[in-house]
Amino acid sequence: MSGVDLVVTDLAEAATLARGPVPRTGPAMAEVDRIPRAALAVADGRVAWVGPERRLRRAVRLRTGGTTVPGRGGIVVPGFVDAHTHAIFAGDRAFELPLKAAGRSYAEIARRGGGILATVRATRAASDDALVRATAERLTRMAAAGTTSVEVKSGYALDPTGELRLLRLLPRIARRTGVRVVPTFLGAHAVPPEFAGRADAYVEQIVRRMLPEVARRRLARFCDVFCEPGYFTVPQAERILRAALSLGLEAKVHAEEFVVSGGARLAARLGARSADHLLRASAGDRRQLAAAGVSAVLLPVTAFAVTRERRSPAREMVDAGVPVALGTDCSPNTWVESMPIVLAHAVHGGRLSPAEALTAATVNAAHASGLEEAGTLAPGRPADFTLFPLGSVDQLGYRFDAIPTVVYRQGNAISSRRLRQYV
Ligand code: NIG
Ligand code: FE
Repeated sequence: MSGVDLVVTDLAEAATLARGPVPRTGPAMAEVDRIPRAALAVADGRVAWVGPERRLRRAVRLRTGGTTVPGRGGIVVPGFVDAHTHAIFAGDRAFELPLKAAGRSYAEIARRGGGILATVRATRAASDDALVRATAERLTRMAAAGTTSVEVKSGYALDPTGELRLLRLLPRIARRTGVRVVPTFLGAHAVPPEFAGRADAYVEQIVRRMLPEVARRRLARFCDVFCEPGYFTVPQAERILRAALSLGLEAKVHAEEFVVSGGARLAARLGARSADHLLRASAGDRRQLAAAGVSAVLLPVTAFAVTRERRSPAREMVDAGVPVALGTDCSPNTWVESMPIVLAHAVHGGRLSPAEALTAATVNAAHASGLEEAGTLAPGRPADFTLFPLGSVDQLGYRFDAIPTVVYRQGNAISSRRLRQYV
């Protein structure tokens, strides 16, 4: 019998997502491995055991000085992996809301001094400390909502020193918050003012100066491109992503967000890790993503905010056999930090079942973020888990703004609060 540091007892249910292929596709997305009346044990930051509570005493022994966390009839799920954010930025863009309410498009708002370049001005002007403080506060709130890992993109500096600065600050933010951060280089988020009308010259700067430096200093795991008219074309995106791949980074693409861009097909052709947004993706795009095994990272709150239909095509993607993952897309454009709210939109607008949404927010989001160890609760895996005061896993996606009682990353509490059971 093995000694453990921490046990979580008295759980109505645990969903481990421990069995099945990674990533999950099709009907397998609805299998979340539910254990009724469960308990969980942690040793040295990793899951030691998870199973029916009646077997706990025979399975493990709590070491002297160990902790018992009372589950109080709640549920445990793997810590959420937020697979797509633009969380490092300064300022806000609340001033855009009246324009949005008046029906102005994303492109029109950008022309009127809003959009990405407005945030670039604020971010360039912010000190390191201000950026670390603001981003750490955001990640702390994400953790309080159940997120233990988050992908964060650069993209609001758009010059060599500034983009590298954003990526260099991320480890500090991760240490401060306890949240695992996966860094993505998104130098190709927009063409900066210095290169207005000379997008190709900026692409050359990315390829020749920024990417080699990002790779040499190991500042990012992924390279992403905003492939959209007015931003970067398919040939420009391809040039950047091929350069990134040759330097050992993996590819992601902001594809078919506002209009049909050809980004999804590019992602399939390059064997990208993920194609993201996909609000305008066609049946043909879905087939190509499925055939290439490229994950669709869907951002249902952005879909709600920026489209007339107000929904992300989650059901269509799952039915086409594409591995679906979820993220907040937290940015000054659609500022949401809570994965439970994202799950609720994936269920209500995206028409996923709560179980499918949970898969998309854990094991599949971990895969889309290159974190093969995260997103499941199985012996030997990092003890990243979230305890909700909810009576059943089916309540996730139903309670839009569900709040966890405790959130653990690698066996350490990164968020906790006193809450009674939801009734
Ligand atoms: O994913 N599409 C590009 N990037 C963000 C929005 C960025 C911004 O408007 O600041 C997105 O929606
Ligand atoms: Fe995005």
